Amino acid sequence: MCGIVGVLGQHEAAPILVEALKRLEYRGYDSAGIATVNSGALGRRRAVGKLVNLSDLLVHDPLPGKSGIGHTRWATHGAPSVNNAHPHKAGPVAVVHNGIVENYRELRAELAEHGIGFETETDTETVALMTEHFLKSGLSPIEAAFKTIDRLQGAFALAFLFDGQDDLIVAARKGSPLAIGHGDSEMFVGSDAIALAPLTNKITYLEEGDRAVLTRTSLEIRNEAGELANREMRKIKLDHARADKGEHKHFMAKEIAEQPIVVAEAIRSYMPTGADQVVLPDTDLDFSKLDRLTMVACGTAFYACLTAKYWFEQLAKMPVEVDIASEFRYREPPITDRTLALFVSQSGETADTLAALRYCEGKADKIVSVVNVPESSIARESDVALPIHAGVEIGVASTKAFTCQLSVLLMLALKAAADRGTLSDEELADHAAALRGLPSVLNTALDQNRAIRKSAQRLSEARDVLFLGRGLMYPLAMEGALKLKEISYIHAEGYASGELKHGPIALIDKHMPVVVMAPRDAVFDKTVSNMQEVMARKGKVILVSDDDGIAEAEDGVWSTIRMPHIHPSLAPILYSVPAQLLAYHTAVAKGTDVDQPRNLAKSVTVE
Ligand code: AGP
Repeated sequence: MCGIVGVLGQHEAAPILVEALKRLEYRGYDSAGIATVNSGALGRRRAVGKLVNLSDLLVHDPLPGKSGIGHTRWATHGAPSVNNAHPHKAGPVAVVHNGIVENYRELRAELAEHGIGFETETDTETVALMTEHFLKSGLSPIEAAFKTIDRLQGAFALAFLFDGQDDLIVAARKGSPLAIGHGDSEMFVGSDAIALAPLTNKITYLEEGDRAVLTRTSLEIRNEAGELANREMRKIKLDHARADKGEHKHFMAKEIAEQPIVVAEAIRSYMPTGADQVVLPDTDLDFSKLDRLTMVACGTAFYACLTAKYWFEQLAKMPVEVDIASEFRYREPPITDRTLALFVSQSGETADTLAALRYCEGKADKIVSVVNVPESSIARESDVALPIHAGVEIGVASTKAFTCQLSVLLMLALKAAADRGTLSDEELADHAAALRGLPSVLNTALDQNRAIRKSAQRLSEARDVLFLGRGLMYPLAMEGALKLKEISYIHAEGYASGELKHGPIALIDKHMPVVVMAPRDAVFDKTVSNMQEVMARKGKVILVSDDDGIAEAEDGVWSTIRMPHIHPSLAPILYSVPAQLLAYHTAVAKGTDVDQPRNLAKSVTVE
């Protein structure tokens, strides 16, 4: 997944492009580049690594021009290098691309038959060369771009810029999001509205198969069949003040610290003050009319769904299936009209999750999404989009979005229980009271930061780490492992604690730290037995529990992390904090790039 941007402006394009790319760096940061047209001449600057390297280059080697395109890359084809960085240029045309051209080898072979050679390993260079080829055959820039787009298979968001054309950008969307921004005698294009927020709040989202011809004063959109298409221009309410770290060293630390505030906002949004009922916006969703719930997501959002499975089954007695999106879409499971299809996605742009959603269209009773970006593709293609109110999340490792997802999913499970009459009013009120008290309990958990940092110092020397949990804490064990591995690069796995003896216990020795997530709940004794099995083999246990659990089981453990008591149903939300802080402090101790870990991007908009 990459970020693309384009400007037909009244001012120098380069600084505008770079600022927009900063807002898109969450989509990838292997390399970056811009191209502009200045007095009719097409120029280009590119740099490998973070965007700051491109900014530095532009200081020493400026690129003038008021029309331009830009790109920040997450490599799909070809290593991160200047040569593979976008924009790719072929003669009089430059192009930036987000996605994957799946038939690029076939197109390369066709171009090679015309004696056209290649300088890079990328699929995108093929797009530029194909366009140049059509220009040389006498087509106009727009015709050449459109004809090239017709030949592409796969997923792409594209923006083309042409030599001699300082008031023209051609754009196209198929499988990757693209937004058009309307300025005052200016026009913009970007991978999402966040990138364009400082420039305009008037946004037109291209739809699948759309092509767009932009000038400073006009926008013409055609659908895949070439017919003129009328797409709505919306006024987007976006928090465009670019998030900053405040007094924190990293965005991730800031976002972990924000959780009591944003979780409180999420809870207030669905449980208006004083009410015990969960109120959903603009929907007639009634769980009593449904037989089954299918939940689909990726990564951290998937672990939120796995947690919610326990809630829907235990509280609402509702059969639930949970799937990783990349598996679901190809397994093609049966979906009936009494199935609710639920998709969870922080970005709302994850390609696999969006594809899984599209598989359910026309099959499920309703398509509901739980998202952090209400204007995202997944939100716009859902029957009901439920915002999580986490605010902009910059850190690639998802933290506050996860706890907000869990809070919204728990409230959804409580609504299902109310609809299906599976919980008494007293039980519903008990859960509602626990939810309203959650923000202050999260604050107490954050106070354990120093103790957690001490445990993290020890973890940072490990080569492998196991996370164990049982019941509601099992998905959290997997999420804790994901947090640790994705930002500290230490291999970690999350296991159901009861599963250890079926193989993984062979891994245990004095070098293996084992993080046990275990509030003093109904399955605590079982987990303690598993913990003893680990310690009997010299495994080093970090016990995360409450006062009762620690008093009962702390003998012999390597270290403890003390959590406040909480309603058993809410434990996974609370225990997310130590999982996040363990990963954060371990990564800081290891000196890795906490906010932008290697090889990752915040939004995975390619398969
Ligand atoms: C989470 O820390 C990861 N960055 C990643 O697994 C992420 O949760 C996953 O890519 C799904 O993203 P989404 O929620 O935006 O769909």
